[in-house]
Amino acid sequence: MLLKEIKNIFHAELDANYGKDEVNSFFYMLIEHYLGLERFILAIQPEFIISKEEESPLFEALSKLKLEIPIQYIIGKAYFMDLDFKVNTSVLIPRPETEELVRWILDDFSGNTADLKILDIGTGSGCIAVSLAKNLPNAKVFGLDVSEDALVVAKENAKLNNVDIEFIHADILTLATFDFGLELALKFDIIVSNPPYVRVLEKQEMKKNVLDNEPALALFVADDNPLIFYQKITELAVKKLTNKGVLYFEINQYLGKETHSLLKNQNFSEIELRKDFFGNDRMLKGKLINNQRIKYFK
Ligand SMILES: C[S@@+](CC[C@H](N)C(=O)[O-])C[C@H]1O[C@@H](n2cnc3c(N)ncnc32)[C@H](O)[C@@H]1O
Repeated sequence: MLLKEIKNIFHAELDANYGKDEVNSFFYMLIEHYLGLERFILAIQPEFIISKEEESPLFEALSKLKLEIPIQYIIGKAYFMDLDFKVNTSVLIPRPETEELVRWILDDFSGNTADLKILDIGTGSGCIAVSLAKNLPNAKVFGLDVSEDALVVAKENAKLNNVDIEFIHADILTLATFDFGLELALKFDIIVSNPPYVRVLEKQEMKKNVLDNEPALALFVADDNPLIFYQKITELAVKKLTNKGVLYFEINQYLGKETHSLLKNQNFSEIELRKDFFGNDRMLKGKLINNQRIKYFK
């Protein structure tokens, strides 16, 4: 069959749901993934033919796209910070907003020549941990998650991107600081987390493809205690950050003020709330200056 005919079928079947540009982008991702073809193939060879065997994964993908399965889960791959990541339904698909958080950390620490220790809480696919390790070669990075299946993916991603990360299986909500084990009897210069933060009441704002496919464990928190992870992680950070260590969060856009107060109440300094590309409150950072805490407790 002519490749351009398959492309036309994709548009006929999917444009109404996704729009022409997104369907184009799906089609090119699929031919690159399954057939190793560059996106400009049809510009150079408009009559390019593929075999029946080569057609079949494209049509299978088309059926999945009709069911609104995310393209990243179909091809098992996502891009984050210009790196390749394996993904499956045990992990959240890395988001562009999270790239903004990673860029913030890199802007703050890229010139740093001292050794750094970094802990990523709720590491999921490992996208934050791996891209920090990749871009901060003097950092020792740890990634923690409650999901063993997610950790399997995160480990594969560390290997895929050639970085050495220590992964820890633990539940941050029940973890006491002294439970951190021998390897974590150390302090971190950076603690970063993109924990679950979507309230159940916000489900109605979410797209069907997210609700039906992405892991609920990675997304949702109870309406009556939406900052449960932030509270726990901030308390832990007070004990586990070095002097002048920095805590970075991705946050719920509707809870910027409340999350900011949490850091303030724990005596973090230089607290900064940032908006994402879409203009929503999305990132928060605070520095822990131990001297201030000592003064506070005197
Ligand atoms: C929003 S996802 C973030 C994943 C990844 N860091 C990213 O930015 O794409 C939250 C992650 O927290 C993990 N998680 C949920 N509850 C947890 C808990 N109690 N302890 C540790 N990790 C938890 C989930 O398995 C999920 O991987």
